[in-house]
Amino acid sequence: MITLTNNALQILRDRYLLKDKNRNVLETPEQMFRRVARFVASAEEDNIKWETKFFELMSKLEFLPNSPTLMNAGVIKGQLSACFVLPVKDSLEDIFSTLKNSALIHQSGGGTGFNFSELRPKGDWVTSSGGTSSGPVAFMKIYDAATEYVKQGGKRRGANMGILNINHPDIEEFINSKSDDRIIQNFNISVGITDDFMKAVQKDLYWDLINPRTKTIAKTIKALHLWENIVQQAWKTGDPGLVFLDIINAYNPLPDSGKIQSTNPCGEVPLLDYESCNLGSINLSKLVIVSSNTPRINWVKLADLIAVSIRFLDNIISVNHYLLPEIEAITKAHRKIGLGVMGWAELLIQLEIPYASDEAVQLAEKLMNFIKENSYKASSQLAKEKGAFPQWGNSHYLNDIKLRNATCNSIAPTGTISVIANTSYSIEPLFALAYDRVGILGGKTQTEMNSLFVQKMNVSGLWNQKLKKEILEHGSLDNIDLVPDEVKKLFKTSLEIPWRYHLLHQKAFQKYTDNAVSKTVNLPENATITDVSEIYYTAWKYQLKGITTYRYGSKDRQVLQKCNLN
Ligand code: CDP
Repeated sequence: MITLTNNALQILRDRYLLKDKNRNVLETPEQMFRRVARFVASAEEDNIKWETKFFELMSKLEFLPNSPTLMNAGVIKGQLSACFVLPVKDSLEDIFSTLKNSALIHQSGGGTGFNFSELRPKGDWVTSSGGTSSGPVAFMKIYDAATEYVKQGGKRRGANMGILNINHPDIEEFINSKSDDRIIQNFNISVGITDDFMKAVQKDLYWDLINPRTKTIAKTIKALHLWENIVQQAWKTGDPGLVFLDIINAYNPLPDSGKIQSTNPCGEVPLLDYESCNLGSINLSKLVIVSSNTPRINWVKLADLIAVSIRFLDNIISVNHYLLPEIEAITKAHRKIGLGVMGWAELLIQLEIPYASDEAVQLAEKLMNFIKENSYKASSQLAKEKGAFPQWGNSHYLNDIKLRNATCNSIAPTGTISVIANTSYSIEPLFALAYDRVGILGGKTQTEMNSLFVQKMNVSGLWNQKLKKEILEHGSLDNIDLVPDEVKKLFKTSLEIPWRYHLLHQKAFQKYTDNAVSKTVNLPENATITDVSEIYYTAWKYQLKGITTYRYGSKDRQVLQKCNLN
């Protein structure tokens, strides 16, 4: 028996379960998991054994792969990966051929990341037409419009990451490009930051903007001026985030294959041009055992889940349908996968450890270290059984163990799969104890109440209609006297957690994640521009690979919002 919440069932029926051409649902959730398990196990010699294991993993909601795998596995030409990076070269032909390829990827449920820094700046000379170039931001608007259109036929919004490096002449236009809420909505944008730039900010130096076509200095500007512009815009709209290119490349396992210039849309996978990656997440809220009244993590079960999940993700590379020969070639050469987690906040609650505590941060390190070690162990066992990834000889691992996968771990946002698994998002704190989730493709708004909280209140005999009404109104326990302080501490929500703890959790997970961690530092409406500046600066100091903040209410449309009872 699979236990799914009503929200999960609705999402599955709307977007995941196979349908005929009259939109009649053709399968149950159980049959969906069976379809996925069977297809992914078709990569194995002993496919029956692995189908059973994969089915068990998913149907118990202990692990779920990224959405495209659930939607498309077993379907003819089913594309199963969530993450892609495509090159944007400085010619009209290349720009539009990548646009076409990204439309195909979106149609298949994947998201695309691009670095636009090779494009000549706005107003620059174009030899073929004798005219001038429109520049990166103009082309991003075209990509954005295409995404908007493709989304209409699809099951979810197409997602993009757009990066421009901090030394591009159009960087100021880029930084300000999302100040109007209606423009470039289908992109997360991030500035590609280098250590040199950060040092120039520290020392208040001038900074050169370089024309990528001529390699000459187009403009010189105070680094601090650019920094202030970035944090001001991020405070106002949430964009741009930062991507720290030097640290990303310091951990590039395949430097001979090229420099990494971009990540996928939510930032958890830095990828080379044409690489794709498929993700999956272990549901940490299912890992607590209670012995002699003390809750603790079931490490044995976790190790087991990791081994099967890594195998599952590795199989996807073998059975996947690739939309382009370039994607197939490099993806199969590197076999990158990203196993991550969801339900971290709920695990902490079950263990009675407040998110905003050093104990939680220490546990984050211990847990992710364990996941990394066991992921690498599983990948190296797969290498013995099935062979190392073909480019292993050119990787950083030459003197180390043979691996099946060039990367093993990513912390994805788990925007939908955590709803299917009925747990908290990724490594994020609880967003609110009760909230409205606005339907993504015009679906109904749903009110959700955190089930662990309701359970806790029931056990303590504190649950009643009055409390429920108050929580629905406020979304948190802050001003509710009835609830004891230690419970309040445990159920602190995202906006009540000091930003430093948001970052410390990201840092702890990043330390043992070979790809990257997608995390949003949620800030209350009254957070200041200085707060954002300090957060962005600390993110660099902490050697994070990227940073995103979001100040409550700073966008008209947001997927999660506090409950509105009217
Ligand atoms: O929960 P789910 O598997 O649907 O996705 P996620 O963990 O929220 O996002 C993982 C990745 O899927 C993102 O970083 C994007 O690369 C991709 N994605 C997308 O292409 N379009 C979306 N609407 C959401 C996610």
